Amino acid sequence: MFDSITPETLRAAGSVKWTAFPDTIGMFVAEMDFGVPPVVSECLRARADSGAMGYLPTHVAEDLREATAEYMASSFGWAVEPSSVYLFPDVLAVLRETLRRLVPEGPIVVPTPAYMPFLTLPAEEGRDLIEVPSRVEGGRWVLDYDGIDRALSGGGLFVLCNPWNPVGRVLERDELTAIEEIVARNGATVFSDEIHAPHVFDGTHIPYASLSDRAARHTITATSTSKGWNTPGLKCAQMIVEGPFREAIAAPAGLVERQINTIGVEAATAVYRDSGDWLQAVKAELDQRRRRVTDVINTIPGLSTVTPEGTYIAWIDASDLADRVESPVRLFRDHGVSLTDGAQCGEGYENHLRLIFGTTGPILEEALARMAAAVAGLD
Ligand SMILES: Cc1ncc(COP(=O)(O)O)c(C=O)c1O
Repeated sequence: MFDSITPETLRAAGSVKWTAFPDTIGMFVAEMDFGVPPVVSECLRARADSGAMGYLPTHVAEDLREATAEYMASSFGWAVEPSSVYLFPDVLAVLRETLRRLVPEGPIVVPTPAYMPFLTLPAEEGRDLIEVPSRVEGGRWVLDYDGIDRALSGGGLFVLCNPWNPVGRVLERDELTAIEEIVARNGATVFSDEIHAPHVFDGTHIPYASLSDRAARHTITATSTSKGWNTPGLKCAQMIVEGPFREAIAAPAGLVERQINTIGVEAATAVYRDSGDWLQAVKAELDQRRRRVTDVINTIPGLSTVTPEGTYIAWIDASDLADRVESPVRLFRDHGVSLTDGAQCGEGYENHLRLIFGTTGPILEEALARMAAAVAGLD
């Protein structure tokens, strides 16, 4: 299905991933090289043909609220009222509005390593950030519950990212329940980013708010089709909230809805309802890639990684190169592979790297060969 994709076709298509650092393989931004499902292209063509480019019609927005609820029920067994779904341009806009309107006080508590904007957005909104470093136990990244408990002791917002960018963990029910206990005990709130839920390989995605009524009432869930179906440029995300948050968000969300792209809304509705066999085909590719990344990275001296259970992101520890390499990200970029600098994912992760493996087998092989050659060239 994806055999015709090459670095040349990708560069010609002109995505940020393939143009920001020319002459390198782009693996620093969470986009996939597999294009979009045919239903998305059909939505764009239909609007282009009709010439109807006006404001977002109410019935189109309502359709997405219903499609989101249907998708959550059929994929994760989570019962959501369509009227609990609010539309935003993107997940970060959901977080921004959460800080402004829903949780205007208290610290923003983020377990690290974290998706980079979670660490910069609080300061932009004049809010205190508390980073809580996580650790590897038995070959898996785990949250530091005591650290999270201490950080939330005066309330505030806990930013949960599950599936977890950048480490690829898919949290289990007992882990989510431990979070729920801590949050409830401290009277805190959860921002649950579940944007990577369509890409789970080991285990099952459990929406945090589906744990219990108590969890649902203290949670703002944010999601989008932008990672699962590769549509971030279409600018349409969903916030799902219950109880008192609905009252607080209704008016501002109404205004924000004016910023959303009608085509993005239609495309999201279409993929939530039926993206054919595209998602399964992509997941089969990613499943091979995640194993291959782990196998090869762990044979490169000085690098190590843990197999991701979800997402298309690998988190690489390059600490053992630290005495020979000033900047691992620069080393690999100079050898033709653009990765994310771990320093952006939290304090203490300077010698780590984030690698996006949402690409074809041959492109991944070339990238890994370049990385191996970069390290071999150090001696
Ligand atoms: C965990 C996570 N949340 C949010 C985003 C950004 O989503 P959006 O473009 O909808 O703001 C990304 C993008 O990579 C992500 O990985």
